[in-house]
Amino acid sequence: MIVDLAFTPHELEKKELAGKSVVVIDALRATTTMTVGFENGAAAFIPVETVEEARDLVAKNPDFLLAGERGARPLEGFHLGNSPRDYRPQKVKGKTIVMTTTNGTRALIVGRGGAEVLIGSFLNLSALVDRLIEAERDVIIACSGEKDIFCLEDTVCGGAIVERLEKTGLPLVKTDAAGAAKILYEQCEGNVYGMLCTCEWGVYLEGLGLGKDVRVCAQVDSSKIVPVYRDGRIILDR
Ligand code: MLT
Repeated sequence: MIVDLAFTPHELEKKELAGKSVVVIDALRATTTMTVGFENGAAAFIPVETVEEARDLVAKNPDFLLAGERGARPLEGFHLGNSPRDYRPQKVKGKTIVMTTTNGTRALIVGRGGAEVLIGSFLNLSALVDRLIEAERDVIIACSGEKDIFCLEDTVCGGAIVERLEKTGLPLVKTDAAGAAKILYEQCEGNVYGMLCTCEWGVYLEGLGLGKDVRVCAQVDSSKIVPVYRDGRIILDR
């Protein structure tokens, strides 16, 4: 199994995705929020790139919920922002959620050429690794980054996947990017929450009064689900 990693969606665009398992990570906060949404009964997420697209889709499908952020702030007229704490069962159970976020939804859309596209975060690391092993495909870890610039939290989360894959004893070939992510993960393995609090986006979220979200995003292995992005929708397929 070859394991590669793209630090940003722009880098992902340059990679050959066909036949590979792609894991999209936006640890702070989009892919964490989706996972929490599914844990609380959401039926599906539809990621779209722009606010206009999101509004149009919900106008045509009034049962859908409109969700997302820009600059981590909720958008006017939207039912939900991008705080995992908003995605409570009373709001999301059975709902299809149209979501637009700055970086996470873009990485998903770029990643859709993979044989399968999986939603990853610190919450579902072990479940993800089990699924990747089962699939027996080469893997590309797609970090969402921040506006096409490297960010620490997604890379460390990607590094955790590399480390766990390696620990299974599988013969693994790591690209330099995957190896570098693993080294970064090893530096903060014992204190994922501390890393999330001190990385740039974590500090930014704290400044907006969203520090409690960071705590949710640090709940390593709290979920056993692996959402899958297929045919334009993110769903649970098992
Ligand atoms: C994104 O997709 O850029 C992030 O999830 C931003 C956020 O924290 O809301």
